[in-house]
Amino acid sequence: MLKLTGDTTDAVRLTAVGKRYGRRDNPVVALRDVTTQFGRGTFTAIMGPSGSGTSTLMQCAAGLDHPTSGSVVLEEHELGEMNETELTRLRRDRIGFVFQSFNLLPVLTVRQNVTLPLQLAGRKPAPGLVASVLDQVGLAQRSNHRPAELSGGQQQRVAIARALVNDPAVIFADEPTGALDTRTARDILRLLRYSSQAAGQTIVMVTHDPVAASYADRVLFLADGRLVDELRSPNPDSVANRMTRLGAFADEDPAPRSATNRGGQR
Ligand SMILES: Nc1ncnc2c1ncn2[C@@H]1O[C@H](COP(=O)(O)OP(=O)(O)OP(=O)(O)O)[C@@H](O)[C@H]1O
Ligand SMILES: [Mg+2]
Repeated sequence: MLKLTGDTTDAVRLTAVGKRYGRRDNPVVALRDVTTQFGRGTFTAIMGPSGSGTSTLMQCAAGLDHPTSGSVVLEEHELGEMNETELTRLRRDRIGFVFQSFNLLPVLTVRQNVTLPLQLAGRKPAPGLVASVLDQVGLAQRSNHRPAELSGGQQQRVAIARALVNDPAVIFADEPTGALDTRTARDILRLLRYSSQAAGQTIVMVTHDPVAASYADRVLFLADGRLVDELRSPNPDSVANRMTRLGAFADEDPAPRSATNRGGQR
């Protein structure tokens, strides 16, 4: 069977995804045997200590990076079977990104940065759409400014507006609220939650912040490239508790722990 078909409830499915960087004699293993799925219209947070593979997981799920092993299916497309042109088209039409570094083009204004994906797709934004999205991220007054004239948090909000304006099926956001003050972060998180609940978009967000993660329906925890835990209906306390345990987990020897008796708990 070449293509996986049938189950249309998942926007993205990862099966046994592994990612290894660098040379064979000195590899960095960024992901190990990650299997999970992101249901349509769901909002998932991905957490883990720095270097645990959260960005790599997102890049692989979004077709921006190729896993070394395993499979990624996005909206029934097996990414490993697609060539670069097909991948580019899929990313352009179906996926929105908010990168850890904002990836704004310095010579373009806020408005031009936001509409760039639509222009690349040869589409025109619906009347009022760009103004409305810029208003939602609190940048209505800054549409003619260039990124260098904005703060880090404002640049981040331009990147979020750019991801939203294309109305993609899946939005991947890597630490979208990392540079924002509490109040602006809350507005952005509400916007992301609204996008999943009302607009049916699938949101996958990497964050280090338990409060940000509590806006999601589900939190996945990574340690040393491995999916080690999952929490549904999170709240800031339950997320912080798991993160504390995860810190202890990440400090352990990454060798198989089969010989370790972890108190008989599962
Ligand atoms: N291009 C690369 N070449 C070699 N190693 C890489 C490359 N990209 C990432 N890595 C390594 O893979 C591991 C996972 O990196 P990744 O960027 O996914 O971490 P992260 O969980 O996003 O961390 P942070 O929270 O600090 O952003 C790290 O050890 C990193 O050094
Ligand atoms: Mg990262």
